[in-house]
Formats: sequence, structure tokens, C-alpha cells
Amino acid sequence: MRVAVIGAGYVGLTTAACFAHLGHEVQCADIDADRVARLKKGEVPILELGLPELIKEGLTSKRLQFVVGAATAARTAEIVFLCVQTPQGADGSADLSFVEGVAREIASVLLPGTVVVNKSTVPVGSTRFVQRVLSEAGARAEDVTVASNPEFLREGQAVRDFQNPDRIVIGCEDRKSAVRVSELYKGVDAPVLVTDPASAEMIKYASNAFLATKVSFINAIANICEAVDADAREVAIGMGYDTRIGFQFLHPGPGYGGSCFPKDVAALLHISSAAGYDFELLAGVVDVNRAQHERMIDKVRDAVGGSLTGVTVGLWGLTFKADTDDLRDSPAIFIARRLLEEGAQVRAYDHGAGDKPRALVPGLELCADAYDAAAGADAVVLVTEWDEFRWLDFERVRNAMNGDAIVDARNLLDPAAMRRRGFAYQGVGRR
Ligand SMILES: NC(=O)c1ccc[n+]([C@@H]2O[C@H](COP(=O)([O-])OP(=O)(O)OC[C@H]3O[C@@H](n4cnc5c(N)ncnc54)[C@H](O)[C@@H]3O)[C@@H](O)[C@H]2O)c1
Repeated sequence: MRVAVIGAGYVGLTTAACFAHLGHEVQCADIDADRVARLKKGEVPILELGLPELIKEGLTSKRLQFVVGAATAARTAEIVFLCVQTPQGADGSADLSFVEGVAREIASVLLPGTVVVNKSTVPVGSTRFVQRVLSEAGARAEDVTVASNPEFLREGQAVRDFQNPDRIVIGCEDRKSAVRVSELYKGVDAPVLVTDPASAEMIKYASNAFLATKVSFINAIANICEAVDADAREVAIGMGYDTRIGFQFLHPGPGYGGSCFPKDVAALLHISSAAGYDFELLAGVVDVNRAQHERMIDKVRDAVGGSLTGVTVGLWGLTFKADTDDLRDSPAIFIARRLLEEGAQVRAYDHGAGDKPRALVPGLELCADAYDAAAGADAVVLVTEWDEFRWLDFERVRNAMNGDAIVDARNLLDPAAMRRRGFAYQGVGRR
């Protein structure tokens, strides 16, 4: 099928490359001409495992092309995927201006019979909203159908998740169009749930809110464990064996972050309040999460004797999780800012973040590696679970540091082994 993918970000690039791999003719569009020029040369602007190879394959077979401008890609497409950003608006709601902009741009060029698919995470009612914008901007309602096909991929393993999803959700009032969208996924082994648009849109928000709830839940348990001398990691394992609970998202840590959970939870709270329901449970999840970020600062402050003024802190990891270059709403960025605010000098290292943190956190010193970040530090705080931090030469780290405190906000390291090596180790909810 001829597919247009609008937006060459984390979701758009993965979607475009994976559909090309499945044999479709894909045009992927972005408004950023520089990004498109780089992609045409096979230069991938994001860190995503396996994506460069798939993009190269698509460019070589010519099944994948990159173009500037949504209308250029949409004019020949049978199915158009909207994969643009939906950031958090000032009132917590999802900002649909990028989605609306694309709908206005493509409305007049769509071929009769085209299905426009919202893959961006959009609030309940957005399928209808896009249909209305398309009609206002010149598309005939009888010619164009709008569907919802939320994306559940995880950054860092986006290609694997796209190719092996737990489920494919398609929300559409028109059965035939839903079937056409489902046919695009031929070759992907996953249950396909065809439902109405509002339910499809709700599935995405409910899923992310549920996962965020799991994170805040285990963080709350971890905080109690610290007070009663239990080990939250053992507790999580013991809980996870229960198949009704499962192991995933039960890792005590610095709180969730990233480009999805915070904004999607805020958007669901906005949706629920607009619907007249006071979603106290989810509001609590947000409160616990904020407090958990703050708790990591408390741990560092305690570790250096009660004040961060004039203290040097080594910060390991800046991205919101490992294996991505994404810094959006990263707990590590929050922590870096707060440490600086309290007068600490912060020496940070992250394998994937590149130079971007400099602009995000003025005053942050970016270091060449984990040892460099630890040099002269009174305390080191590990915030992102990059695998390389497991395998460091900790004797070298200890010798490079001025103090001996390690705050392991991801429970990545072995407490007993760290203490044997002379560190004053603190994890999250660990003995
Ligand atoms: N990142 C994730 O892990 C993830 C997972 C599931 C769902 N989502 C959802 O998918 C959507 C996209 O997320 P993302 O992380 O890929 O965003 P992103 O910011 O990485 O990418 C969006 C891209 O769209 C482009 N764009 C904006 N307006 C455009 C226009 N008019 N024409 C062409 N291109 C345009 C931007 O330049 C940018 O490159 C969001 O709604 C997000 O919530 C994201």
C-alpha cells in the first residue's frame, strides 16, 4: 500500500521504516528540512536500536522516501499516519495544534478513499476533531475516513515493539477502513482489536496511566520499605511472580519521566475532570511521582551531611531512561536543576544525550565519561540505568571521588558489593 507518515520523530520514523520493511511504499514527511536532508542521506537523528539499519534498507529499496511537508507525502497516499507531537498544554490538556496543522495542510490534496490515521496520542474525540478539520479545509467527508491507531512502542526498543506489539488497536466507525488499516500490519503477529474511536483513544491513555500508577505504587512501597527495613527489590520480585501482577514496571526509582507518561497522565486528568469525574487516584500518582524526584535530592543532601551548597555531585545519566537520547521530562534533568539550585556543582555524564543538556541545564558540566563525572565528587548519583554503569571499575571511581557516597536511584548496583568497596551506598527502598 502507499503510505504517508507525517512527522519524522520517534514514532514517525519507526512507523515509516517498519512499514517499508513490511513491503509498503512509504513517504515520511517532516517540516524540518534539515532533518529530512539528513534522513535522505541515511543519517538518523535519534538514538533507536535497529532503526538506522531499517532506514538504510528502505532507502536502498526505495520503498522509503523522506520529503519536506505533509501535503507532499499525503497527495499520493492511500493511508496517512499522523505522528506529530501532542505536547502538554498550559492547562494539562494535550495540545492538538500540530495535529490540526497537518490536517489543514493535507485536506485539499487527499485522494478519494484515503484513510487518515491518528497515531499521535490524542484525547478522546480527536478522531472526530480531525474529521471536522479536514472537512473545513476542503476534504469531502464521503471521500476521507479518519481512524485512531494508538502507538504503544517504548523508546529504546521502538523497532522491536513495533514489529512485535502486544496488540494493535484500531478505532474507526467505518469497518472497511479499519480492515484496510489492519491489512497494513500483515506480517506482524499480534491480536488486532477493532473498536470505536473513543475507546481506542481511551485505551492509550488508560494504558499509560496504569503503567504510571504501577511506577508510583512501587515507589511508595519502596519508601515504606526504607522505614521498616524491608528490601523493595525483594518485595517487587515476590509480587511479580503473581501473574496477575507481573514483574514489569515494578522497579523502584526516581519516578517516571519521558515524553509520554507525564503529559499523558496530565491529559487524562484533564479529560476526566472535563467529564465530571474526580480521578483522585491518578492525581495521587502524579503527587507521588513529584515527591519521588524530590526524594532523590533528599538522599544526596543527606549523603553529604545536610547541605548541598558548595558540594560537588557526579551525575550518571541524563536521558529519561537508558538506550534513548530523549531528555524530555527526564527525572535526571529535574535532579540536575535542583542540585544546582541548592548550590551544588554538578558534573554529569550521559552516553546518549550528546550536547543537548548544556542548553537545558545552564551551569551543568558535561563530562567525557563516568570516571570524569566522579572526579572530585563528594557524592555520585546514578539516575539513568545505562548498562555501562554496572560494569565500571569501581575502585577507580572510588579513587577519583572526594567523598564516598553513591545514591543509586535505579537500584542498578549491588549494595553489598558497593559497601565492600568502601562506598556509602543508598538505593531506593533497599537495605
Ligand atoms: N515517543 C514515544 O515513545 C511515543 C510512544 C507512543 C506514542 N507517542 C506519541 O506519538 C506522537 C509523536 O511522538 P514523538 O515522540 O515521535 O514526537 P517527536 O517530537 O519526536 O516527533 C514529531 C515530529 O513531527 C514533526 N512535525 C510537526 N509538525 C509537522 C508538520 N506540520 N508536518 C510535518 N512534520 C511535522 C516535527 O518536526 C517532529 O520531527 C505524540 O503524540 C506522542 O505522545 C510517542
